[in-house]
Amino acid sequence: MAAVTSTRPYHIIIFGASGFTGQFVVEEVARSAFEGPSGSLKWALAGRSRQRLEGVLNQAAETLRKPELRTEVEIIVADVSEADSLAIMCQQGLVVLNCVGPYRFYGEPVVKACIENGAHCIDICGEPQFLERMQLEYHSRAMDSGVYVIGSCGFDSIPADMGILYTKNQFKGTLTAVESFLTIHTGPEGGCAHDGTWQSAIYGFADSGSLRKLRKKFGHQPLPVVGAKVKKRGSLFFSKEIDQYAIPFMGSDPSVVRRSQRFLYEGHQELPVRSNTTAHLYCLTGCLRSVTQRCYIVFPEFFSFGVFTKAGPSRKQMEGTSFTLTFFGEGYAEGLDPSQGRPNARICTQIHGAEPGYVATPVAMVQAAITVLNEQQFLPITGGVYSPGAAFARTTLIDRLNRHGLVFSVKRF
Ligand SMILES: NC(=O)c1ccc[n+]([C@@H]2O[C@H](COP(=O)([O-])OP(=O)(O)OC[C@H]3O[C@@H](n4cnc5c(N)ncnc54)[C@H](OP(=O)(O)O)[C@@H]3O)[C@@H](O)[C@H]2O)c1
Repeated sequence: MAAVTSTRPYHIIIFGASGFTGQFVVEEVARSAFEGPSGSLKWALAGRSRQRLEGVLNQAAETLRKPELRTEVEIIVADVSEADSLAIMCQQGLVVLNCVGPYRFYGEPVVKACIENGAHCIDICGEPQFLERMQLEYHSRAMDSGVYVIGSCGFDSIPADMGILYTKNQFKGTLTAVESFLTIHTGPEGGCAHDGTWQSAIYGFADSGSLRKLRKKFGHQPLPVVGAKVKKRGSLFFSKEIDQYAIPFMGSDPSVVRRSQRFLYEGHQELPVRSNTTAHLYCLTGCLRSVTQRCYIVFPEFFSFGVFTKAGPSRKQMEGTSFTLTFFGEGYAEGLDPSQGRPNARICTQIHGAEPGYVATPVAMVQAAITVLNEQQFLPITGGVYSPGAAFARTTLIDRLNRHGLVFSVKRF
């Protein structure tokens, strides 16, 4: 169990606490403080404007009716462009929750400062290029310094990644393939995401070519293929499984899931599960790739058909929104040799949770941090740059998420 000291006084530092997402991460840490080691968390807010951070703290104190937050929670001023300020911030905490994005522009100095100054780093990045590049360039350094850098710990990509591990654990036999379907349910007020996520997504789409080059540098051997191939899906298709039209999901999930499956195969000799991630009623951005990048940035609301807005969703919209992620898995029943014949057993599992971007994401991020603080003995043996599935496969993260409203269940075998 990780312990704070007089020189490293905080279990958790929320960097970028004044951002749209950061403010909800602050509230979630305040709500979950009793789950820290020895039943309490010492925590601080960090960012580049003391005034804005004080505003966030006041708002959280009011919303949660916890006036003590105003005096008990410290503020650290740190700016991504000032390396010394990042070093001083990282020296004071066991875990940094990094909410400063787009990560392709602001993420690397934080990863570097965490590794050099002994703080574990958790982010909510949904940008595969950044996540994979950090693994390529910083994994050995993080291993050497015993620091865990765990990216994509928000809605991107904890449900998809941990959902496949859950499905595999529930399957009685050898699971070989999974197709998942995401549904976003909105109430009468509608729903949307904040511009910060929009900017991160469209810079990622614009640069998707660099991923291929990056992946070559890893020099990975192909993963073994067992069972039937996962169905190839078009850009819009009718799914018999869900009786609805669906489109491919444009986020970081496929990249993150593949990294976890590779880690579990190479490190633990577990047969990898192949997967497809699709969505319906969501991800309109996928239709917009031919519009110029500049237009995307200037008019997010117009160019995303209102899916992303400068103001972000209201609390009322968030209350009326939820998601369901359904996994259809297939494989070989217990006792059957997966190298012989076709898959003969199926499973359907589901994760249901509250609004993805600003309710489920803070829950997932904070529970990831609490798991790092409380269950370090179940993380990979050394530090390193990991996907959530690689880092948390042996921990109780799924139980923790279940207790916080991200509910994993088996629908049918
Ligand atoms: N994984 C998921 O599902 C998920 C969900 C939600 C968000 N996200 C990601 O989270 C990130 C943030 O999104 P958002 O909507 O919260 O964006 P946002 O409102 O624009 O917040 C950005 C934050 O970064 C801070 N910042 C910018 N430049 C900085 C610098 N030089 N030094 C220190 N801090 C700096 C801003 O500080 P100021 O307040 O001082 O400007 C603000 O706190 C995005 O990458 C988004 O994609 C992911």
